[in-house]
Amino acid sequence: MQMAEQAPMCILVCGGAGYIGSHTCVALAEQGHRVVIADNFTNSSPRVLLRLQRIMGTPVECVRVDLRNRTAVARLFARHRFHAVMHFAAMKAVGESCAKPLEYFDNNIGGTINLLQAMQEASVERLVFSSSATVYGDPERVPVAEHSRLDAMNPYGRTKLIMEQLIGDLCRACSSFRAANLRYFNPVGAHPSGLIGEDPTGVPNNLMPYICQVAAGRRSKLSIFGGDYPTPDGTGIRDYIHVVDLARAHVDALEYVMRSDANLTVNLGTGRGVSVLELVHAFERASGCHIPYEIVARRPGDAAQVYADPSLANRLLGWRARFDIDEMCRDAWHWQSLNPDGYERGSPEVAGPGQHQSART
Ligand SMILES: NC(=O)c1ccc[n+]([C@@H]2O[C@H](COP(=O)([O-])OP(=O)(O)OC[C@H]3O[C@@H](n4cnc5c(N)ncnc54)[C@H](O)[C@@H]3O)[C@@H](O)[C@H]2O)c1
Repeated sequence: MQMAEQAPMCILVCGGAGYIGSHTCVALAEQGHRVVIADNFTNSSPRVLLRLQRIMGTPVECVRVDLRNRTAVARLFARHRFHAVMHFAAMKAVGESCAKPLEYFDNNIGGTINLLQAMQEASVERLVFSSSATVYGDPERVPVAEHSRLDAMNPYGRTKLIMEQLIGDLCRACSSFRAANLRYFNPVGAHPSGLIGEDPTGVPNNLMPYICQVAAGRRSKLSIFGGDYPTPDGTGIRDYIHVVDLARAHVDALEYVMRSDANLTVNLGTGRGVSVLELVHAFERASGCHIPYEIVARRPGDAAQVYADPSLANRLLGWRARFDIDEMCRDAWHWQSLNPDGYERGSPEVAGPGQHQSART
């Protein structure tokens, strides 16, 4: 669907210093929107701000704030006039969520309640929310459509489901409030500049950063969890989506909630399932590196195959993924090679005038 151009807006990007949020800031700036990042940097580096400045050619405003701090969040809304909010700020590691469920509920749900309250008090009534395919659990059939059974299988997934429900209840209670729940499948890759990308702290939880670190020599080999799934090569199948495609979908979803009378819940994936071994081989082609691996026991709770039916996003937003798996691997490797230790020691930070403005609330 071709939409008319949206007038420039001021968007609050909660969790905008993180992996997907930072790429979305770039996509928003490309459309002429102004972004204000709110982040507590628990899973990101302030160095991303200088990288964003370098890509965007302008300083990025950022406020260091924890969404659990209600007073600080209210102050943020008192100081700015936001047209809409994008909400990426959450803890996202499945394993950690099983070990620390209260922390996950406190951070993800507590932070979201504060944010929604502040939005309501400031009459900011447009929200784009980061949900996840994890809300489907182990799906009964693939490709997974939005009306599939919801069955989060771990505390992280349950926080996503509860946040979707919270937002849905608010939309029902307040007829002028509009929200888009975006259910991401498996975001990978990086901005083609190699300036921003995924920078996990500690041992990566996701496959692509792990493969990158093996290729870079930081880890000796990849452990593949399960080689006996009922899939063509026995390894698990997922729907990998380039983070730049994902970021673009946020701009489309923002335009949708600004214009439409309806709320939105859509899958964001390519619709193509790729096995772990296929991804490993694609990465080897893209990087020229050999990835040693061993197949170990399945991880409890991992589904054999999960990939999206992305047709609703295409129908409602006119969005579809453009990058294929080879391009995802190419850009992931480009980021990794330029930044072997993530943001801590990477390519030179920033050239050009101006500093980012970083305020504390
Ligand atoms: N990356 C994935 O594979 C994936 C898949 C599905 C859904 N998601 C969701 O997308 C969103 C973004 O994911 P990401 O990969 O960019 O994660 P990320 O950890 O890189 O980014 C999240 C950002 O939020 C910040 N944050 C966390 N809690 C906060 C709080 N209480 N107050 C302020 N800032 C806080 C972190 O410091 C970080 O910068 C998350 O909500 C995640 O659950 C991610």
